[in-house]
Amino acid sequence: MSFPPPHPPHTHPYIIYYTYYIALTSSFSLNENDVFGLPEETTNASSPSTYHTFHDPADVVLLRSQLLNWYDKEKRELPWRTLAVTESDLNIRTYAVWVSEIMLQQTQVATVINYYIKWMKRWPTVQDLAAATLEEVNQMWAGLGYYSRGKRLHEGAQKVVSELKGQMPRTVDSLLKQLPGVGRYTAAAVGSIALGQVTGAVDGNVIRVLCRLRAIGADSTGPAVTEALWSIANTLVDPERPGDFNQAMMELGARVCTPKGPLCSQCPVHSHCHSFRKVSTFSSPSVNSGTCLLCPSEPWDDELGVQNFPRKPAKKPPRVERTLTCVVIRPGEEGEDEYLLTQRPNKGLLAGLWEFPNLLLEEKSSEMKRKKALCAQISGTLGTHLTESLFQYVGEVVHIFSHIHQTYVVHSVCLKDTDAQTQTENAQWLTRSALQEAAVSTGVKKVFIFATSSGSRQLSLSSFFNTIKQES
Ligand code: ADE
Repeated sequence: MSFPPPHPPHTHPYIIYYTYYIALTSSFSLNENDVFGLPEETTNASSPSTYHTFHDPADVVLLRSQLLNWYDKEKRELPWRTLAVTESDLNIRTYAVWVSEIMLQQTQVATVINYYIKWMKRWPTVQDLAAATLEEVNQMWAGLGYYSRGKRLHEGAQKVVSELKGQMPRTVDSLLKQLPGVGRYTAAAVGSIALGQVTGAVDGNVIRVLCRLRAIGADSTGPAVTEALWSIANTLVDPERPGDFNQAMMELGARVCTPKGPLCSQCPVHSHCHSFRKVSTFSSPSVNSGTCLLCPSEPWDDELGVQNFPRKPAKKPPRVERTLTCVVIRPGEEGEDEYLLTQRPNKGLLAGLWEFPNLLLEEKSSEMKRKKALCAQISGTLGTHLTESLFQYVGEVVHIFSHIHQTYVVHSVCLKDTDAQTQTENAQWLTRSALQEAAVSTGVKKVFIFATSSGSRQLSLSSFFNTIKQES
């Protein structure tokens, strides 16, 4: 056995070692944990306890090979992974991985696949994307949620073409500095996967895997844990295959070390996992909440098992909003109904997307007052005088954004006039099929289906549109 022992002891034989070790090491002091053979180590963010790190090179080498062997057998064939291997042009490869990583932020792999294939077919190079309009980008992004991501990709592509001579950045640092919307994780993921840069990459899946492996139970969103996790990831990453290693960690988090119902018996690295060891050996948890910045402040819960980690602070409740909205219908020239849409401002939530005319609802307003307000707004958009009696209340539609609990109070109005014209650039009439293809959010799609289908003819959102549940 090496000295000091690689991990804090959990059993009696170690007590002697540790008593001796503690006497020799000024950064350790005795406390009640030592009765159980657990050292208390004075820690800080830059040098966390060895219990929470990988300090034995042999362990690191073993973990890398176990993880990569598993990944080679079990990995999903995903279009961006195939491109990262088959695309020899570095510029296209970096662009392709960048697009995938932006789409994968906050959206699940299964949802991203079709969007990604369509996107790469339409804009196979950064130059193609730079030449597109934001309207086209928004249209392609519709249903994927968090719309500012598409906008930033577009801005980034235009910057690469106009300021970087069409050359994608070639290092993690320059990806981070040059591309809007690219943060620490995305730069590391693109750098390692597309460019072979040797860096760890810590996303939500990796946070979970590492917190469980090293029993890190302090708030996983705080600076001490964040720095510790990046440091561990940088220690573990395989210098020969950094991109595969990072994707293997993500894959492990997505498919084995899952938030609920983790499959520990199938985990290729469970022999390195402190949480698994606690569960399988019933050992007492080595919580050192007094001094260690990475230990949990709350006790281990036996019922949760490895799901004790990671710990996050409670989420803020979403803001509750009610919005008055109206589906305005006119008979189109081809005999097909058309619907009035207005465009959101170019900044802020759902920037530049199209929606039905709407107003933030004053809670105590009467139905009469609501119809009056809608009527005035829509009359202004169309440059006519509509009467309030045309407006019908349809009902309410709830849509959950990441941080807003939105209720749309839906009305409709059917105009007889085929030539009710829009008065501004920010309004247009769309047929049902054009609306299906337009840059509209999932909330708008829900309202549309709700207002235009009735009773037994109710359509499901997914049968009509390609959508996801949450967006921002
Ligand atoms: N999530 C983020 N990046 C990913 C990748 N390259 N493969 C699978 N899931 C991911």
